Amino acid sequence: MTGDDRDSGLAERRGVDDAVVYQPAEDSGLLAEAAIDRAHGRVLEVGTGSGWVAQQIADERGLDVVGSDLNPHAARQASERGVEGVVANLLSPFRANAFDTVCFNPPYLPTDPDNEWDDWMEHALSGGESGRELIEPFLDDVGRVLAPDGVVLLLVSSLTGYDEVLELVADAGFAAEPAVEESFPFETLTVLALRRE
Ligand SMILES: C[S@@+](CC[C@H](N)C(=O)[O-])C[C@H]1O[C@@H](n2cnc3c(N)ncnc32)[C@H](O)[C@@H]1O
Repeated sequence: MTGDDRDSGLAERRGVDDAVVYQPAEDSGLLAEAAIDRAHGRVLEVGTGSGWVAQQIADERGLDVVGSDLNPHAARQASERGVEGVVANLLSPFRANAFDTVCFNPPYLPTDPDNEWDDWMEHALSGGESGRELIEPFLDDVGRVLAPDGVVLLLVSSLTGYDEVLELVADAGFAAEPAVEESFPFETLTVLALRRE
């Protein structure tokens, strides 16, 4: 195989990956801004997608960052950015107290079950009927992997139900404060910083 062959193979793979991996958008930028400001210690970005947010944290703060995703194409893109990319369903493979900072920009759009399209982009965008179907199990388990003085940075859209998410946060034993917030024509995005109560 020549170098050119390898390069075109890589380009081809990137083309496929870009079609099935969430690429950085406004929500990614907001999460990166909050994380660059507040992350400390060992960092996990759940649902890392392209790995761009994780890479920003590593580059700007010099921290060790793991980027995990259910989508193997995403884990590979994160690895190609120099982040440790791991295929994982939410937090399941990670041990207790493993991280000081956990970031998550979840799939959050409320989706009519009759209109689901069952591919990797749906996994990236759809939060199920309520918009909170990934946020609930994430909040149920994140306290397990978080060090005692750890922080969780969770992106929430007004489309997902801000007050409902705050209730889930409180039920999981965390206090929340907005770290950054920005309004767009169809939604307001907030990154909540969560700490144990
Ligand atoms: C809105 S995208 C965010 C991507 C990236 N973090 C960013 O901000 O640009 C949500 C990501 O969560 C991933 N995801 C969906 N379900 C997941 C699960 N059960 N476990 C881990 N990741 C999941 C998707 O594949 C997608 O990459």
